[in-house]
Amino acid sequence: FPVAVVLPAAGSGERTGLSTPKQFCKILGRPLISYTIHAFERVFWIDSIVVVVAKESHDLMTDIIQKYNHTKVKIVEGGSTRHRSIFNGLLAFSEQGFGPKLQKPKVVIIHDAVRPFLEEDFLLKITLAANKQGASGAVRPLVSTVVAATTGGYLDHSLERARYRASEMPQGFIYDIIYQAYQHCSEAEFKFGTECLELALQHCGTSAVLIEGPSSLWKVTHKQDLASAEAVIKESLS
Ligand code: CTP
Ligand code: MG
Repeated sequence: FPVAVVLPAAGSGERTGLSTPKQFCKILGRPLISYTIHAFERVFWIDSIVVVVAKESHDLMTDIIQKYNHTKVKIVEGGSTRHRSIFNGLLAFSEQGFGPKLQKPKVVIIHDAVRPFLEEDFLLKITLAANKQGASGAVRPLVSTVVAATTGGYLDHSLERARYRASEMPQGFIYDIIYQAYQHCSEAEFKFGTECLELALQHCGTSAVLIEGPSSLWKVTHKQDLASAEAVIKESLS
């Protein structure tokens, strides 16, 4: 069955404190996003990759695609929040999108452009589970206990750690389900929501299966994470 990927890459990377968005920061001379794209392009059963970037990064992204010969990639313009960017990416496979419509996939994988370390066997797990159950996502056991804070900064309550997981990426969906879920998304969800699996559950009643992924799925978030990513890539080359 046809499988496509949506890679949100329209953020500004505020938490790095750098002026260049982290997805375009170079690691050993090559932009971070190019490593992530490569992780999908080398998988023969993935047909197309929609990369969602901010308007001002469009030309840069075009250059990267040419320079690194990324042949499965199409560029789409991002939105003001991650959810909006993902929805724009999904629209590329529908009649409502801008530009020429891409072939609609059965399953769509959503993944952050800033999580470059991705193995084919885990992608396959996510894809098959999504095809069977409707939605699937990578999770990790929690390292720290999560506490709820009052607005004044005091402890409200804590969560029972064993019952909770950290939600990572990738996530997989039957395309029609996640597309419909986004169409029913409220303004508040677009603005404050951070969990795609929950949209499928809330708006389509689709159960979402949580699959424990490898620790290598971590996300580049802070400045020092770029150095860690470089160390991992160097190690894999030696
Ligand atoms: N993202 C996006 N559109 C947005 C915001 C985020 O496509 N409006 C993307 C980012 O580019 C990134 C992924 O969503 O690939 C994960 O988001 P995050 O790690 O929060 O990245 P940023 O929002 O760029 O970073 P920060 O929150 O520190 O500003
Ligand atoms: Mg963000």
